Parts: sequence; structure tokens; C-alpha cells
Amino acid sequence: MKNIYSNIFSFNKKTLNKTTIALGKGNVVALPTETVYGLAGNAYSKKSIKMIYRVKGRPKNNPLIVHFFNRKDAEKEVVLNDNFFKLYRKLCPGPITFVLNKRLGSKIHPSATNNMNTVAIRFPSHKIIRSVLKKISFPLAMPSANLSSRLSPVTAKDVADEFKKNIKIIINGGKSYIGIESTVIDLTSKPKILRPGIICPEKIKKILGKKVNIGKKITKIQSPGMLKKHYSPGIPIFLNQKLFNTNQAFITFGKKYRDRKNYFNLSKSTNLKEAAANLYEILRKIKRLKFKKIYIVKIPNKGAGIAINDRLKRAAN
Ligand code: TXA
Ligand code: MG
Repeated sequence: MKNIYSNIFSFNKKTLNKTTIALGKGNVVALPTETVYGLAGNAYSKKSIKMIYRVKGRPKNNPLIVHFFNRKDAEKEVVLNDNFFKLYRKLCPGPITFVLNKRLGSKIHPSATNNMNTVAIRFPSHKIIRSVLKKISFPLAMPSANLSSRLSPVTAKDVADEFKKNIKIIINGGKSYIGIESTVIDLTSKPKILRPGIICPEKIKKILGKKVNIGKKITKIQSPGMLKKHYSPGIPIFLNQKLFNTNQAFITFGKKYRDRKNYFNLSKSTNLKEAAANLYEILRKIKRLKFKKIYIVKIPNKGAGIAINDRLKRAAN
């Protein structure tokens, strides 16, 4: 019998080679990161960027994050500044993305950033993506490996289910342990969080020693990816619910909820990081089980809870 996941590969020397060769030719490859799986392509190549947008069905005005091995590689492409250095030192590699001004002469293809003069850059910490970045001589444009506006994938199988055979190489790196997309912070002027993530505003404020703004109003240019409807499982979601009596899916948080067939607990120990790590996996499971509605209890709006509530609000839209 033919393996339906013949495009999923485990990571070893041979598949690392296969991956870097494919990327070098301008093809796209799905790779694990600590946050979510990404769809990677050469950020210098028009062909790769075009393919990423086509495969995802992503609107062209939504710019991509460009991923680097380290700061030295990034400084060829963007103008680094003091706020960046402070955050980089404490948090990188890791689940945070910085929006910075593009350097004159940068080789990043303009189509990767919708011709803007800023670039979002990230230094992922997952060891597989780091091995790939170390081996190649170009940065990777890499959005989450899902169809536009759908849930981000946290396993290789999620990616294969999403794109079927449209992606030839998916590298299996186990479950993404952060489980939610990186924090995006604009550092081109006063620091401003554009997308909350596991690295919360409090933490950033502490490192920078100053106030950080949180983007509420979503402008077209600023972060088109913060489209109102996003991260959607394609099932109606009802937020801030109390215990109720139906057989619809009920997402809970904390140990007072019993185990039932239709109950899905984000974290029994009320650990918000654990809840974030479980969120997409649980939403996918509920979808697979063909529930028609999702009810979810109120999630505390602090720390990683801010990111969870952000994603839930968008998913519910
Ligand atoms: O955790 C992550 O960040 C994952 C992994 C694969 O690295 N990637 C990811 O990429 O979530 P994507 O494309 O799904 O989300 C990128 C976000 C979008 O909201 C996009 O609008 C924003 O970053 N963005 C990218 N470039 C930007 C820029 N120059 N200015 C403002 N926002 C930008
Ligand atoms: Mg995405």
C-alpha cells in the first residue's frame, strides 16, 4: 500500500541535503520551527516567493517574515538598532520577529515584502531549521505552512493534510513546542507589538526598560497579516462561555472540568504557555471529529493568554 504521507521525511544528513538542494533551485519546502511549521523559500528569489504566495493562496499585500541564522547574516539586509540588540541578546534565537528598515542594496526580493521599505526578520531556535539556515547562503522567506486564513500547522502531518501533494518535501521535526506564531514587534520607531505571542508585552517592556505599545488599530500597510479573520478552523467559535449542556465541543482551562468526550482541556494546571502550545492541536482535533460549534471558557488575558485571546478572537470572526 502506498504511504499517503510519502512527502514527509525524517531529518538526517540525506534529507538535509535534499532540502538545501531544493531550496537552492528555488523550490519551497515545509520545515519545522519551535512556533509553527513554515513554508520556506529563498528570500532572494522571485520564483520562490511567487511559489510561496501561490501555494498558500496568500494575498500579495501580506508580507513574509525572512528568517536568518544569526545577527551577522541579518545586518546585510536590514538596519539594526539598539532596541533590536537588547531583545536579540535576551530572546534569540527564539519566537520573536522584528520589523526593521530594509537596507539599501538588500538582496531580499521586493515581492517578499510587498515592495515595502521594512522587513520582518526572525531567528528561529528549532534545531532543524537552524541546521538548514546554517548550510545555505541565503535567508528564508517563510510564512506558516497553512492555506491563507486557516490554522497554522504544528506537526508535519498537519502540513501534509493542508497541502496534500502540492509540497514535495515536508521535514518532520515533531510537534512545534511553542505551538503559536512568533510575537511580531515593530522596531522602526517606538516599539510596537503588531502580533502578540508567547513572548508577552511585560517581558519585552522589562528588557527594553520602556513602554511598548500594542497595535490595536490594524492599518493596511502595518500588518496586513493581522487581517480580522485569520487562524480559522472553519467552525463557529463562541468565546467566554460558561459550563453548558450540549454535545458541542467545549474547550476548557483548569482542573475543575471533568474529562468528557466533548471536553478539551487547554491546560489542567492553568499554565498559559501550555495552553498556547495545545491550542491549534485541539482546534484541529475538534474539526476532525466534525463538531459543528466550539464553545470556549474565558482565558485570562495576561502573559501568553494575550496571544491566545488574540488568535481566538480572529478565529471567531
Ligand atoms: O512563528 C512565526 O512567525 C511563523 C514561523 C514559520 O516562523 N511564521 C509566520 O509567518 O507566522 P506568517 O507569514 O504566517 O505571519 C507573518 C506576520 C503577518 O502578520 C505579516 O503581516 C507580518 O508578520 N509582517 C511581515 N512583514 C511585515 C512588515 N514588514 N511589517 C509589518 N508586518 C509584517
Ligand atoms: Mg500565518
